[in-house]
Amino acid sequence: MLVLGIETSCDETGIALYDTEQGLLADALHSQIDLHIEYGGVVPELASRDHIRKTLPMIGQLMEQANITHDDIDGVAYTAGPGLIGALLVGASLGRSLAMAWNVPAVGVHHMEGHLLAPMLESNPPAFPFVALLVSGGHTQLVEVQRLGDYTLLGESLDDAAGEAFDKAAKMLGLPYPGGPQIAELAGQGDPERFDFPRPMVNRPGLDFSFSGLKTFTKNTIAKYTVDNNIEPQTKADIARAFEEAVASTLTIKCKRALKQTGLSRLVVAGGVSANIRLRESLGKMTAKEHAEVFYARLEYCTDNGAMIALAGALRLQAGHAEGLEIQVHPRWPLDQLAEVR
Ligand code: KG4
Ligand code: ZN
Repeated sequence: MLVLGIETSCDETGIALYDTEQGLLADALHSQIDLHIEYGGVVPELASRDHIRKTLPMIGQLMEQANITHDDIDGVAYTAGPGLIGALLVGASLGRSLAMAWNVPAVGVHHMEGHLLAPMLESNPPAFPFVALLVSGGHTQLVEVQRLGDYTLLGESLDDAAGEAFDKAAKMLGLPYPGGPQIAELAGQGDPERFDFPRPMVNRPGLDFSFSGLKTFTKNTIAKYTVDNNIEPQTKADIARAFEEAVASTLTIKCKRALKQTGLSRLVVAGGVSANIRLRESLGKMTAKEHAEVFYARLEYCTDNGAMIALAGALRLQAGHAEGLEIQVHPRWPLDQLAEVR
């Protein structure tokens, strides 16, 4: 079954062609970073307008490049939520309409299910069941995954998502949007021994997260070392490093706890923050000690992309899930409300 996948939930237009027999055939990504950078974050209306401009031409181009015509396509998958409503509506409207024109089924995919399944695009895919750590710009969740669509929320962030915390800390340090990769780069030159930032909520039982205290601590440390509106470049790098270490070690402690609590030995880490190298090092050490295995998508499929949506959509369409003609998006959509695939 060959599926066209469309991702337009935020600031990236992602298009992909995924075949259930052959795997990923082709994908393309357009990032809107240049469009939003001067505003320091995503401007929803600009995001929607750009998706409208880019989506259809990108689909045409990708099909041409991959030598695929609409006669070859067996289904269309688009991100139906969570995300920015206007941005979601672009992908959903175009996806649903193409499916109608081509007389094939369409399915609205949950963006976080896409992230969660992205490591299955790799040559050593994780088998069910597993614990998933979802760390993106909007979500920080630990999920027990028994099978496709069978998701039990074990814990989540009570305030900022991990990616959001990275983005806010970056802003405080005067780094451009999106902050995660910027902090990571700067942290590479930082001294891990200079500052010791708090690991929020690790001494309390449970699997929830909170990053607001760490955000305040970061803000106060920056203020302490700022003289005449200036902060030494090395101090900036040391703060970035301490912040990154604190996030990585908090996430690692909770993942270890989740593996213990569920008795599972596979950990899947997905979403934009899973591209973070120091987080990967920290989780790698922990899972090795615990005799567990950790799985990621390659770096370009950690952040938003069309491939993960085409894959998730293909698995759901194959199981007979499909949408009616009414175009529906869900800007807020709890992952554990998804239908299970048996
Ligand atoms: O999954 P994603 O592309 O979009 C959402 O679904 O939100 O995640 C984007 C988030 C942003 O907050 C970005 O700063 C963060 O992922 N991010 C990173 C890294 N790459 C992206 N955070 C830390 N280290 C990175 N290398
Ligand atoms: Zn995402």
